Amino acid sequence: MPARILIVDDEVGARTALATLLRREGFEVSEVGEGAAALAECASFHPDLILLDIVMPGMSGFEVCRRIKATPETRLTPVVLITGLSATEDRIQGINAGADDFLSKPIDFNELLARARSLLRLKEFTDELEHAEAVLFSLAQSIEARDPYTLGHCARLAEMSARLGQKVGVSGEQIRALRRGGIVHDIGKVAVPDAILLKPGPLSPEEIQIMRKHPVVGERICAPLRTFRLVLPIIRHHHERQDGSGYPDGLRGDEIPMTAAILQLADVYDSLTTDRPYRAALAPETALKIMEEETTRGWWHPALFEALRDMIRSGPPAASPAKPGPPAK
Ligand SMILES: [Fe+2]
Repeated sequence: MPARILIVDDEVGARTALATLLRREGFEVSEVGEGAAALAECASFHPDLILLDIVMPGMSGFEVCRRIKATPETRLTPVVLITGLSATEDRIQGINAGADDFLSKPIDFNELLARARSLLRLKEFTDELEHAEAVLFSLAQSIEARDPYTLGHCARLAEMSARLGQKVGVSGEQIRALRRGGIVHDIGKVAVPDAILLKPGPLSPEEIQIMRKHPVVGERICAPLRTFRLVLPIIRHHHERQDGSGYPDGLRGDEIPMTAAILQLADVYDSLTTDRPYRAALAPETALKIMEEETTRGWWHPALFEALRDMIRSGPPAASPAKPGPPAK
């Protein structure tokens, strides 16, 4: 598959000449003359690289770049900003907008080719990583789909754990791990037979043993992925308890990674407040009451529980704009 390059420049002559040269090198090229069209083309053409002129009527190249980098689907797509000759100020603004590289006008085609190829190699690598993650996420979803009662649980959990993590001040990197952990924490259930996973009654001691292997199996499945480094402790320890009565390692108190304890509280709360084969969903306050008793019993982290209760009682987060709005006037 040839790599796809999107050229965004309001000067038709320069744009067309560049497109012709790049097509001759075997790239698939699309060209547009202004910012809004560039954003639309990102969504339909799915470029692997974007060459972006800064000075255009309407939305500037900086703004287009900022929006590309703020959109989850395109944030890893490399953007090369095309600047004027003496353009230190442009470069600083470009770096702030998230640009990956710069080219000065007039464009030296050989230099452009060298930079484009190097950025495309990098893009190929991040694509592969993303594909590996995507495979794990679909596996996690297919496991969730086996049990109709857990439908939507993972997505809610990802969201709630990330919010709780933010509330107690864990790092941005850990928040990202919590989002991924929410989706894949139970991926090890792939090794649990339906007869056990979907059994409506209580499990036998042997069945409990099989069920309790899922954190370790899950950790093993995700271990090869370097980007999952911070997710692994969440997967392995999401069933530990503060008093050491959890599994698989019987960790106590501070031995339990903070992120695992965060995800676990969100997991328990979400399970209590959704329908199960053996009971209807509990009201939020009833669920919190049960969790408070369990915290007193020594199961959950007291300060984290307080933070969760606070978060639930203060209601859902204010809607944040999913897409960037129009440029500031
Ligand atoms: Fe689990």
